[in-house]
Amino acid sequence: MTLLRAEHLTVRFGGLVAVKDVSFSVESGQIFCIIGPNGAGKTTLFNLFSRIYAPSAGRMLLDGVDFTTLPPHRIAQLGIARTFQNLELFDHATVLENLLVGRHRFRRHGFLAETGFDQVVWQAELESRRAVENIIDFLDLHRFRDTRVGALPYGVRKVIELGRALCSQPRLLLLDEPSSGLNAEESEDIGYWILDIKRHFGITVLMIEHDMRLMGQVSDRVLALNEGSVLAEGSVQEVQSHPQVIEAYLGVQA
Ligand SMILES: Nc1ncnc2c1ncn2[C@@H]1O[C@H](COP(=O)(O)OP(=O)(O)O)[C@@H](O)[C@H]1O
Ligand SMILES: [Mg+2]
Repeated sequence: MTLLRAEHLTVRFGGLVAVKDVSFSVESGQIFCIIGPNGAGKTTLFNLFSRIYAPSAGRMLLDGVDFTTLPPHRIAQLGIARTFQNLELFDHATVLENLLVGRHRFRRHGFLAETGFDQVVWQAELESRRAVENIIDFLDLHRFRDTRVGALPYGVRKVIELGRALCSQPRLLLLDEPSSGLNAEESEDIGYWILDIKRHFGITVLMIEHDMRLMGQVSDRVLALNEGSVLAEGSVQEVQSHPQVIEAYLGVQA
């Protein structure tokens, strides 16, 4: 079953076409990886799927539902969560508090209900705590629970950002360069978490990755972009051995 469909997506910034007529489908349960040199349009695609940008042309569907013009604050409710290429955590808040932010989409009660602290609100709060504890267990974050995020090493903060996205119980998880800033060992660990996310929760993952080792470790399917256009799509082997992909990466005629 297709979970995400991108149909003829185009994004223009003034005279620059950052994404050109890009189409692809992500099947439910897949780990789908987007690769490409710097400036290829990868993050711009993610900014479309999280509705930070609007496409100049084309449309996007999640499970058959067109969300091309859905307001950005409805994206989490639709079941899409993301992480950022450069971490976006609250450094002055604790790990637990940052993870609870991931539960935001389940808050449906107004101020009056919250001040009244009625039974329904209490139930929702309990449910949120339970979901967060589940993710703390899963990612083995117990010892950091009450630590300020800003005081933690970069590698741990990357895992926390992943955890916050998981707390929203998404159907589609968007990871923008999960290994950026990590050493080889930490990068391999992130790879295991990503595989576990698929196995454990059955969440579909769409990720952008620079590190070819990590890409090969986790991907079911790969899309290569260059200068906003699709160069190739297929298995890891197919894409890695594609002459145009080799040329785009190495800058030589293959
Ligand atoms: N908000 C923006 N305004 C103008 N140009 C942008 C904006 N965002 C991205 N770009 C340009 O679009 C192109 C693709 O950028 P990006 O999607 O960030 O590439 P990637 O993530 O593949 O490295 C680049 O040339 C970049 O400079
Ligand atoms: Mg990018």
